[in-house]
Amino acid sequence: MKFFVDTANVDEISALIPSGLVDGVTTNPSLVMKSGRDFREVVGEICALVDGPVSAEVTGVESEQMIAEGTSLAKIADNVVVKLPLTWDGLVACKALTGEGIKTNVTLCFSANQALLAAKAGASFISPFIGRLDDINIDGMDLIREIRMIYDNYDFRTEILAASIRSANHVKDSAIAGADVATVPPSVLKGLAAHPLTDKGLQAFLDDWAKTGQNIL
Ligand code: G3P
Repeated sequence: MKFFVDTANVDEISALIPSGLVDGVTTNPSLVMKSGRDFREVVGEICALVDGPVSAEVTGVESEQMIAEGTSLAKIADNVVVKLPLTWDGLVACKALTGEGIKTNVTLCFSANQALLAAKAGASFISPFIGRLDDINIDGMDLIREIRMIYDNYDFRTEILAASIRSANHVKDSAIAGADVATVPPSVLKGLAAHPLTDKGLQAFLDDWAKTGQNIL
């Protein structure tokens, strides 16, 4: 499973790079607003930091404007992936941009039928929003399982990018359900390494080691 970091904060991304766990980045207009940065500038910086795909979202709502915005965003760097909303116009734009060789991430997906249409439109990634479905008492993980089954039935190459991930369990369950990618807030990514028994065990080893009076170096 690939990990993308779901943030437009360059410092947060930089801090995670040495782990080797950052396979890409996803941004959205809300995350850009939170960063307080100029959109094109921050996308350029992130693309220079990260080798993998960096999603940058259009804000037009009609296909023509989405295509124009997507074409312009794709010129920022080779690893830009144009993020498009899962609307009829978004699908039209996805088809057109895909035809131009531009990578796309179709976002705000809440149903398997929407995901089927995105795959048929040639999307590189589909972003089902797990947490927001859970928020309204619908099991977001069922959606990942359904999309996995449909894509495998027809051998669609569109990658399933589990989004709106809020917890370590969301990551684990997405991996079990067969998502290709999880896009994760930095705090959740770091939290995956944490376990109280690891901390307890490490402390016991350190205490016993101190009693030996030895140093490794
Ligand atoms: O990538 C989309 C994701 O960031 C949305 O997450 O927590 O706002 O539902 P959330």
